[in-house]
Amino acid sequence: MSQREMLHNVSRETPGWTPIAEEAERAARVLHPDRHRMPRPTHRRVLTVANQKGGVGKTTSTVNIAAALAMHGVRAMVIDLDPQGNASTALGVEHRLGTPSVYEALLGEIRLADAAVRSTASPDLLCVPATIDLAGAEIELVSMVARENRLKQALYDGSLAELGVDYVFVDCPPSLGLLTVNALVAASEVLIPIQCEYYALEGLGQLLSNIDLVRSHLNTALHVSTILLTMYDGRTKLADQVTNEVRGHFGPTVLRTVIPRSVKVSEAPGYSQTVLAYDPGSRGAMSYVDAAREIAERGARMDVPIDQDGR
Ligand SMILES: Nc1ncnc2c1ncn2[C@@H]1O[C@H](COP(=O)(O)OP(=O)(O)O)[C@@H](O)[C@H]1O
Ligand SMILES: [Mg+2]
Repeated sequence: MSQREMLHNVSRETPGWTPIAEEAERAARVLHPDRHRMPRPTHRRVLTVANQKGGVGKTTSTVNIAAALAMHGVRAMVIDLDPQGNASTALGVEHRLGTPSVYEALLGEIRLADAAVRSTASPDLLCVPATIDLAGAEIELVSMVARENRLKQALYDGSLAELGVDYVFVDCPPSLGLLTVNALVAASEVLIPIQCEYYALEGLGQLLSNIDLVRSHLNTALHVSTILLTMYDGRTKLADQVTNEVRGHFGPTVLRTVIPRSVKVSEAPGYSQTVLAYDPGSRGAMSYVDAAREIAERGARMDVPIDQDGR
C-alpha cells in the first residue's frame, strides 16, 4: 500500500474527515518536506527517461520526480535532451536561442556544469536546458567522432561531482535517434514511463531491443531499473488491464505508485511550474512524491557499482 493510500485510509476513519481536510493534509506534506526527507542513494544515479512514443509522460515524470527528490533534500539534475525544451519550461529555466545549453556541451564547446541552471522548483534542483539548436544535433552528430559518447563525455568531465548531484535524469526526445542513444550510453539506468492506454505496449519491444543493443555494444552497465505507469484513469477497465499486463511482464521493476490522469498535472507546465508547486495538494503531486520516494528508497538500498566517474 502506498503512503498516499495509507494516509487516505487513516483520514477516512478519523472523525471529522472531509475531502478538503485530506487535501490540506496532503498539501502540507508536500510543502513541508523537512519532516519527510528522502534518503540519499548509495552512489550517484544517472537515469535516462526513454520511450520513443510521444506523449506518454516522459517529461512530466522527469521534472516532477526530480523536483520531488530535490524538495525532500536529495540534490537532482535534469538534462533536457529534447529540442522542444519542455522540461526546461516546466522547471522555469531560460532556454531561448543563445542560452548555454546541452547542445554546446554535446559539442564539447562548454562544460556541462557551465550550462546547469538552478530551477525555480527547488534550490536543490539543477537543469541543463535544451534550446532549438538541439534540433540540428541529431544530424550534426552523425559525422562526429565518438558520436554516441558525447553526452557521456560531457557528464563525466567532473561536472557531476563538482555540482554534487545525487540523481541525474535525462529527458529524451520521442525517437530512438542519436540523442536517445547518447542518453542510453551516458546512463546506467533506464526509466520507462508507460501510459495506461490502448497501444501502450506498442513499440516497447523496439525500445527494449535498442537498450539490449546499446548494452552489448556500448554500455554494459545499462539496464531497465524502473517502470512508471502514468495517466491512469480508474474509470476505465483498460487502465487496469494495462497495469496488470505491465506488472505481469516486468514484475518489481514497476513502481507500486501509479500516476493518475489529472488536469492539474497537465496545467502546471503552462505556468512554468511542476505540479508540486502548482497544486501541492492534488493527487497528481502526491503521487509523484510517492513515486520519487520509492525511487529514493531503492537507491538507498542499491549495491555500490563501479562508478563511471571514478570518484
Ligand atoms: N498524469 C497526467 N494527467 C494528465 N495529463 C498528463 C499527465 N501526464 C502528462 N500529461 C500531459 O500529457 C502530455 C504529454 O506528456 P509529456 O510528459 O509531455 O509526454 P512526453 O514527454 O512523453 O512526450 C502533456 O500535455 C502533459 O501535460
Ligand atoms: Mg517530452
